[in-house]
Amino acid sequence: MTRGFFITFEGGEGAGKSTQIRRLAEKLRAKGYKIVVTREPGGSPGAEAVRHVLLSGAAEPFGPEMEALLFAAARSDHVEQVIRPAIQSGKIVLCDRFLDSSRVYQGGTGSLDATYMAEIERIAINGMMPDMTLIMDIDPAEGLKRAAARRGAGEADRFEKEDLAIHQRRRQAFLAIAEQEPDRCIVIDASADVDAVENQITAAVFAAIEARSKVPHGRAKGA
Ligand code: TYD
Repeated sequence: MTRGFFITFEGGEGAGKSTQIRRLAEKLRAKGYKIVVTREPGGSPGAEAVRHVLLSGAAEPFGPEMEALLFAAARSDHVEQVIRPAIQSGKIVLCDRFLDSSRVYQGGTGSLDATYMAEIERIAINGMMPDMTLIMDIDPAEGLKRAAARRGAGEADRFEKEDLAIHQRRRQAFLAIAEQEPDRCIVIDASADVDAVENQITAAVFAAIEARSKVPHGRAKGA
């Protein structure tokens, strides 16, 4: 393929995104695709510098606009330094969280209005919309348990430590995005065992890549 393919993974805490990204990357590499695995907040040196400020809670006292703009600043750097060059050189990018996390965490369940969020999203992504988004859906009570087990003695981050009710609202907000954008989003049942989840993801991704390679000139967006 000439232009690459941009896949994002979204969902609540402990949904198993990073495990599944690792597995998918291996499968795709085995088929000869060139893969870039990345994550947000972070993924480029500039964005990684902002990551700690966000996840430690250091930006929280300065208000939701400050946090949302920092996520957007990190995203913009990540898009221009890492994602766009990879897509332009024909790679498949697998990104752990992207714009839907901002829509859900800062927009839907935060206090910022939709117009403000849409405006900073537009600036941050600058046309680089994901081709495909896998929404990893799991009951937050289960997800938080998994996240705590993974963390061991470490502390929960700024967002993990919020109330279960907020995590429940986030789950609904991700599902609402999937309903509004069915061409881009696929909901994956992340409560199933890890191999079953991998099979769901592999089937969906290979079908999408196949379908895309049949489109004569691909989609020009973001390239
Ligand atoms: P991270 O440690 O990367 O964990 P995971 O993706 O496994 O949950 O944490 C990222 C946190 O940042 C997560 O709680 C969601 C939050 N977040 C936002 O609030 N807005 C965003 O735009 C992004 C990318 C992440």
